[in-house]
Amino acid sequence: MSMALGPLLQSLEPGRMDDAEFQRWARLLETRTGVTVPPERKPFLVTGLRRRMREAGYTDYHSYYDELLDGARGPMEWAALVDHLTVHETRFFRHQPSLSLIRDQWLPEWSRHAPDEQSLHALSVGCSTGEEAYTLAMVLDEALCGVDAPRRFGITATDVSQPALAVARQGAYPAHRLSEIPQQYRADALDIDADGAFRICERLRRRIGFACVNLLHASRAPLRQLDLIYCQNVLIYFARERRGELLDGLARLLRPRGLLVLGAGETTQWSHPQLTRTSGRQTLAFLRNP
Ligand SMILES: C[S@@+](CC[C@H](N)C(=O)[O-])C[C@H]1O[C@@H](n2cnc3c(N)ncnc32)[C@H](O)[C@@H]1O
Repeated sequence: MSMALGPLLQSLEPGRMDDAEFQRWARLLETRTGVTVPPERKPFLVTGLRRRMREAGYTDYHSYYDELLDGARGPMEWAALVDHLTVHETRFFRHQPSLSLIRDQWLPEWSRHAPDEQSLHALSVGCSTGEEAYTLAMVLDEALCGVDAPRRFGITATDVSQPALAVARQGAYPAHRLSEIPQQYRADALDIDADGAFRICERLRRRIGFACVNLLHASRAPLRQLDLIYCQNVLIYFARERRGELLDGLARLLRPRGLLVLGAGETTQWSHPQLTRTSGRQTLAFLRNP
């Protein structure tokens, strides 16, 4: 029986993708999300696309493409597909030098200049499944709330992937992720089960609002003026010539003395008349002039 079913199942699989077809899908992804897929990443695109097509019951690229563009379920289907075509790799406390810059250098300065009643607003761009936003919450909570004159803070965390955001909103992670979180934060920030699985405590979860925002349209999103923008491992998926425009848009959202933190090495040529690059070889960050 399996010999008879084998060819039948194969014929229901999306077939080989030629280069013209690949270009068409890569263009669609770039137009809608800004993410570029160079030819050497074709296998990544094909694998993600096929996986989603199988789940949704499509066997040929053309009818699936038409459904996405013109079908009644197009917008919903796009939301599901984009999750398969973007990279969500992330970790808690992923880039220690950037977090030290925030905690040890920038925050003390910011606190010195901000009026006592002023709260701090941060943005995590391309937050994936939430680890980056919760990391910022732990760092800010320790630095701002454990002192004599505690300050309030709030974080907006955005991503283009709805499924990733659904995981982020839950704030629950399996036991093997616990080792990413330094011991000093665990007691205050986590509710840990007997088996080691954990959830970010409600007090910190309440500080974060997760929202589906496409970075391409971030400057049109109803985001407030921000003190801290954290944008790591997102720009690398965008075409070089587009990165400057996106960063200009983020710079406009920064308050005076606000900090924009990028991934080290993510862009080398960008500068902005109102921002000054901070020193530090392991970090790439820009301070908005007072
Ligand atoms: C590799 S993850 C980085 C996660 C986190 N920032 C970190 O450094 O650990 C990249 C994230 O960017 C998101 N992304 C890709 N294109 C985007 C866009 N146009 N707008 C918003 N988020 C986007 C992806 O969905 C993905 O979750």
